[in-house]
This record gives sequence, structure tokens and C-alpha cells, in this order.
Amino acid sequence: MTFAHITGWGMAVPESILTNDDLSQMVDTNDKWIRERTGIRERRIARDGETTASLAVEASLRALQVANLHPTDVDLIICSTSTPEHIFPATACLVQDRIGAHKAGAFDLSAACSGFIYGVNMAAQSIRSDAIQNALVIGSETLSRFVNWQDRSTCILFGDGAGAFVLQASEMPGGVLSAVMHSDGSGGDSLILQGGGSKHPATEATVREGKHYIEMDGNEVFRFATRVMAQSTKEALEIAEIELDDVNWIIPHQANIRIIAAAARGLKMSLDRFVINLDRYGNTSTASIPIATVEAAEDGRLQPGDSVVFVGFGAGLTWGSLVAEWTGPLPTEKKVYPRRYRIWARVRSFLLRVVRFIEGLIWGRGS
Ligand code: ACO
Repeated sequence: MTFAHITGWGMAVPESILTNDDLSQMVDTNDKWIRERTGIRERRIARDGETTASLAVEASLRALQVANLHPTDVDLIICSTSTPEHIFPATACLVQDRIGAHKAGAFDLSAACSGFIYGVNMAAQSIRSDAIQNALVIGSETLSRFVNWQDRSTCILFGDGAGAFVLQASEMPGGVLSAVMHSDGSGGDSLILQGGGSKHPATEATVREGKHYIEMDGNEVFRFATRVMAQSTKEALEIAEIELDDVNWIIPHQANIRIIAAAARGLKMSLDRFVINLDRYGNTSTASIPIATVEAAEDGRLQPGDSVVFVGFGAGLTWGSLVAEWTGPLPTEKKVYPRRYRIWARVRSFLLRVVRFIEGLIWGRGS
């Protein structure tokens, strides 16, 4: 029997920090209100040239390094994002090219803040069915590019960043044990980015009307989130046949400290067993769960053998949770250096473009 283990993890956040005080210079808000109502102190904002793909590449290389896995051994790349580089090609394909994962299938997954849980579940299912051996699941966002910086009800919440997991097949029991995924499209309007899709393609009017910004009914999302967090955690634990008391860590979507506290109350658990870092990064949507996980793994809170629940909610509406036994890198014989492979990946990408250009000259570029 094959199990899907989380064997590598990595994160990347922009260096540039935007504090609550900085925001109070931009809109009518203040540090006290933001901290009390959300728990957020600061967030990272991508600089020019930093994009969803560049953050995803960095997080992926770090995850591959931890897993000690060569990019050419990756079979599948799933990039969960609501702020893709383009509508197409998929950001996952850009990552595939830049890290040199030439064997991998690659696609983007759109399930907003729940996307990382959906992606890890999809990858784990593919591994457990023996369809693939190694998967890279990424959550990456540059939400700052879609935030209306004049809307104080949304611009205080979001930040940029990326996190990634490597999942690998092994006969050793453990890894991803269960997952639940849910959706309710009737709540789609409560968190929406209307412009730029096929219903409202980009026009002068859509830009003028601000349709390319995130619109949110904060109270509606808040009520929904507090309802589903505890409920879906219990559901996934029941499938995994694990008692709440035996859970070492809950790693929730980092949207609002009051939502996490409500989930803790619903589960009758102490907040100490929740991994929380939203004070430093804000809501990075689908990247928030892997970023929090990486910090917990790197500072030693998360140990091999720990039972961990990932739980999230987001636009769609979507929500879900996933239970895993934390593994860590699988034993391997030789050390690999995925970062060094980037140079070869660039050369390979360049050569493929040259070949495509020459083919165009030989066969013509169509009439
Ligand atoms: N600074 C100061 N005052 C503010 C601000 C601000 N940034 N924003 C709103 N206010 C004011 C409002 O105007 C209102 O004033 P009024 O009473 O005079 O009308 C008052 O504060 C209360 O406003 P509420 O919207 O009721 O504030 P609330 O306590 O609900 O907090 C918040 C708003 C933080 C958005 C909260 O509803 C929330 O966190 N909702 C969930 C959001 C979320 O999780 N979104 C993302 C999930 S999915 C994803 O991640 C993509």
C-alpha cells in the first residue's frame, strides 16, 4: 500500500514590509483598530519584478532542497493561486520551466484560500493511487496587485507570499491521512474579483468602475468562516479516526485572529495548539497555511510523528481540512542541490525557444 508523505517544505515572502502605521497614512485607519479587529500588525508586499511565479519558484526550490529531491524527479506541479501570473498559461507551467521539472505535468488550481488544502489532497490521491511518485504543491499569491488601496475594509487584510510542499510516495505508513473539501457557490458574491474574466473582460469601463479589485462582504465571510472551521476539522479527524486530544497542531488559514479564536472555542482547544503568524504576514490567501507550516517546521514546533490538521476557507465559497501525520524528509543516499539545477533549467528553456524559432523558420509561421 502506498502512502503520501509531506517530505519537503519551503516559503518565500517579499522583503518589503507594510505596517499598520504605514496604512494609516494611506487610508482612515489605525494600528489599534487593525490589531484588535484582525490581529494583523504588518504584511509583505511584492516589489516590481516580484510576481506570483517568482515567489512560487523560490518556495519550490526550498521545498525540494528540504526533501532532497531533484526537480527532474517531480511528476506533478499544482500551483494554487487566485492571483496567477496570467489567466493562461498556468503559473504552475512557469514554475515547471524555471525549476527544470521537465517530467512534470503542471496546472493551476483555483479554490481561493482553501486551494492549498485542495491541492495537497489532489496530489496525495494521485500518489496513493500509484499514478505518480513525487508532487510539488504550491500556494502563491500577490494579492497586493488586486487590492484597492483606498478601501480600508480590505486593504488592511491582505499580504503577498508563497509556500510549497513536496509530497512523496512511500510504503511507510503515515503522511496525508484524510481530507474533506466543500463548496457553496451561492456565497460567491461575498468575496469576488469581478473584472478580467469572461463575464467582465478588461475594458476602460471595468477599470474605471474598479472591477479589478477584491470586493468583500467582511461580516458575511466572517460568519461563514467561524461556522465551518471547527466543523470541517472534526469531519476530517473522524475520517482519519484520530481524536482531537491526540492532535498536536492545528494550522489554520491565517485570515483573522478572531476567526481562529472562534474555531478554537468551537473545538474546545487552547489557542496554544494553533500555529498563528498572521500578525507578521496578514492574509496571504492560499499561501498562508504552507507559510505557517514552514515556520512551525523550521522552529522545531512541528516534529516527525506529530498529528496535524490543516484547515481553511475562502472565496467560492470553499472550505476544507486535511489531517496528516508529519513525516519530514525521506532517507536518501545522496545529497541533491535543486538550486544549482536552475542554471541548466534556464539553458534548457532557452534552447527549447531557439528550437521553436528554427522550426518556425523551416516550416513557416502559418499564413
Ligand atoms: N479601520 C478603522 N475602521 C474600520 C476599518 C479600518 N480598516 N474597516 C472598517 N472600519 C469600521 C467600519 O466602517 C465600521 O464603522 P461603523 O460602525 O461606523 O459603520 C466599523 O469599523 C465596524 O466595521 P465591520 O466591518 O463591522 O468590522 P468587523 O469587526 O466585522 O471587521 C473585518 C471587519 C476585519 C473585515 C472582519 O469582518 C473580517 O475579518 N471578516 C473576514 C474577512 C476574511 O477573512 N476575508 C478573507 C477570507 S477568504 C480569503 O482569504 C480570500
